[in-house]
Amino acid sequence: MANQLEEIRLELENSQVSDAEALEQFRMRFIGRKNVIGDLFSAMRNVPNEEKKAYGQQVNELKNLAQAKFQEHIDSLAAGKGETEDHADLTLPPLHSEFGSIHPLTATRQRFIEIFERIGFNVSSGPEIEDDWHNFTALNFPENHPAREMQDTFFIEKNPDIALRTHTSSVQIRVMENEKPPIRTLSPGRVFRNEAISARAHCVFHQMEGLYVDKGVSFADLKQTLYHFAKEMYTKDTQVRFRPSYFPFTEPSAEIDISCQICHGEGCNICKHTGWVEIGGSGMVDPNVLANCGIDPEVYSGFAFGMGIERITMLRYGIKDLRLFTENDIRFLKQFNSL
Ligand code: PHE
Repeated sequence: MANQLEEIRLELENSQVSDAEALEQFRMRFIGRKNVIGDLFSAMRNVPNEEKKAYGQQVNELKNLAQAKFQEHIDSLAAGKGETEDHADLTLPPLHSEFGSIHPLTATRQRFIEIFERIGFNVSSGPEIEDDWHNFTALNFPENHPAREMQDTFFIEKNPDIALRTHTSSVQIRVMENEKPPIRTLSPGRVFRNEAISARAHCVFHQMEGLYVDKGVSFADLKQTLYHFAKEMYTKDTQVRFRPSYFPFTEPSAEIDISCQICHGEGCNICKHTGWVEIGGSGMVDPNVLANCGIDPEVYSGFAFGMGIERITMLRYGIKDLRLFTENDIRFLKQFNSL
């Protein structure tokens, strides 16, 4: 009897399990419903009374040992030891895993924010579904302005008008209604316009709005800020040009052009052989807009800009067709793996 106990103890101590099948065999022999340790318990009735206690203790120990060993085998199989231990070639290069990558529009948005955070701007956001007040009226759009018309705006409801926002300028209003100057904020987001999709236009695109309101903010601040931005986003020799323009919510207003990043002035299709590419609109916040938001235009002034994130990204990476951003073609997206 004692011999048999010792044999089983040794068998357990020396047991090795290299695969799932061997583990199952171990389980059946030592743990399963009819196992050898159970047989030892059954044999208890043949043990003389005075030895029963010691015998029972020993069998119990074996039972615990079997359970401990079983867990050990499970753990070592799970850790990839056992079966693979002898075969793994640690000199092989690792299997390539696809982690995905940051979308180029996201990378540009992040860079944009990085540049402006360092000069004291925070980030704000507003809803993509807007009311007439925030998208148009508070921004000084006259009642009959063409931008309100059906051909440009996706209306969700009429009277009162609810629409998909046509620009991120609506967030200017939301920030100015809720905060006191000084305000320095960037508002990135999706905007919607009823336009046919082409290489240069889409009915859904992204803008980055900028707003700076404080005492004594001037057009010189606007220009200097955008010079700084262009050099940081592109290269130190990037030129910025302001072209007089019109927006209901800024006065004076200017279109922002930068020197073409594709041909560097040689002339190409992207800049239509002018050497300049438009990246957005800008201007001094119209006093009416400040007043609409409860900010005294006699005390405060500000500048604002709105830029197209798609356009900025296309110039950054030499992307010639805006549709690539939303087609989800892996061959396109993979080229930005290092972002
Ligand atoms: N909201 C304008 C547009 O979408 C851009 C702009 C923003 C112009 C801020 C001036 C100031 O075209």
